[in-house]
Amino acid sequence: MTDQVVPPSEFYTDDFAADPYPAFARLRQDTPVCPVGGPRFDSYLITRFEDAKVALNDPRLSKDLYGPEQHYLRIFGPNSEGLNKNMLNSDPPEHSRLRQVVSQAFTSRRIEALRPRVAETVDNLLDKIIPQGQSDLMHDFAIPLPMMVICQLLGIPETDHERVLGWTQVIRTSGSSSRPPEEERAAVQLAQLRLHQYLTSLVQYKRAHPGDDLIGALVDACDNEGKLSERELVTTTFLLLFAGHQTTADFIGNATVALLTNPDQLDLLRTRPELLPSAVEELLRFDGPLPVASPRIATEDVEYQGVHIPRGSIVGVVINAANHDPAQFADPDRLDLSRVRGPHIGFGHGVHYCLGVSLARMEGQIGIGALLRRLPGLRLAVPADQLRRLPAASPFRGLLELPVEFTT
Ligand code: HEM
Repeated sequence: MTDQVVPPSEFYTDDFAADPYPAFARLRQDTPVCPVGGPRFDSYLITRFEDAKVALNDPRLSKDLYGPEQHYLRIFGPNSEGLNKNMLNSDPPEHSRLRQVVSQAFTSRRIEALRPRVAETVDNLLDKIIPQGQSDLMHDFAIPLPMMVICQLLGIPETDHERVLGWTQVIRTSGSSSRPPEEERAAVQLAQLRLHQYLTSLVQYKRAHPGDDLIGALVDACDNEGKLSERELVTTTFLLLFAGHQTTADFIGNATVALLTNPDQLDLLRTRPELLPSAVEELLRFDGPLPVASPRIATEDVEYQGVHIPRGSIVGVVINAANHDPAQFADPDRLDLSRVRGPHIGFGHGVHYCLGVSLARMEGQIGIGALLRRLPGLRLAVPADQLRRLPAASPFRGLLELPVEFTT
């Protein structure tokens, strides 16, 4: 039994933010189930691939944060129901009901129909960048692309994109400014409040002006089929909006850096663009945007690798550690785009497996493919170790900026 809690100072450093993989390797090897103190809460981290897959599908590790025990208070804090009481934070049968409503509206037909629009959005963004010979690719490409796509799918009017993006970026980059923590927290709370107010009124607007978009379909499921409450309508919209662009933006940023710092693999992909689908999977395995799956709660005493996890503990499944497990992937720290497509867990596993996987893959393939095709001589404009990243304590792994240059 490991009962020595590793203090946050071991993990939440700038070195860890730059490259967490050596620390993940140590955990995986020495303490594969490890109690760790965190800036927001303590948790048990699970780092080996096989354990991670089992844990993500273990009904004793609950996602029901808003049940009678109010676990959300430790994780999101009070007043978080308005945005976060959604499928990702619930267990079956609630989860199945909420997911089914969205799956029905989030059909592959609707996603496939977006393909030309995604390609057009990519081209429009690149048309603006190309004459300049340089760009902050996070700001100019990786963030706006998935944002515009998910807004289009949901039916968020173009005139509102900028302010919605403003609020979601405050949440995403929380902890990265030099402001005192209380000010940061207040800014995040305000952004969440504004987003909640905005989505609530947007839903009302869509009710009065029905359209062929995803929010319209959710309003229909609420009003005519009684499958969704009014609050669930808003929390589901928030989940789709946030999950729909945040992870994809960070994925495109991380993937671009991985390619630019592995020139042999970049050349390989340039000469063999048919590798793009498997390349996207390998890039996601190599440096995914969601290092730790969203928190689970042990509903009873459980044991993993002989480590006792007491009832009520928060459990974090470290996706990015599991995806570098040498027991699962040969030479795991090497980016190898011709790797036989392995069963990585970058999109999760089990009942909460990513609902937007087809959209994420489509955006990754079209976006990364176009970057390589249309920006000749693409290179980092600063040394890789000087890239500014989200803070180590962020739940996301991504870049604040991605300065690049290319030949015009
Ligand atoms: C590269 C991009 C993406 C990655 C790496 C990713 C990753 C993940 C992961 C790991 C989970 C499971 C989390 C857990 O079990 O704690 C998840 C869930 C989810 N993702 Fe994604 N995601 C991506 C893009 C998207 C997109 C584009 C959407 C579109 C709306 C989306 C919607 C969702 C939703 C709704 C869930 C919750 C599913 C549930 O609780 O049943 N994701 N995603």
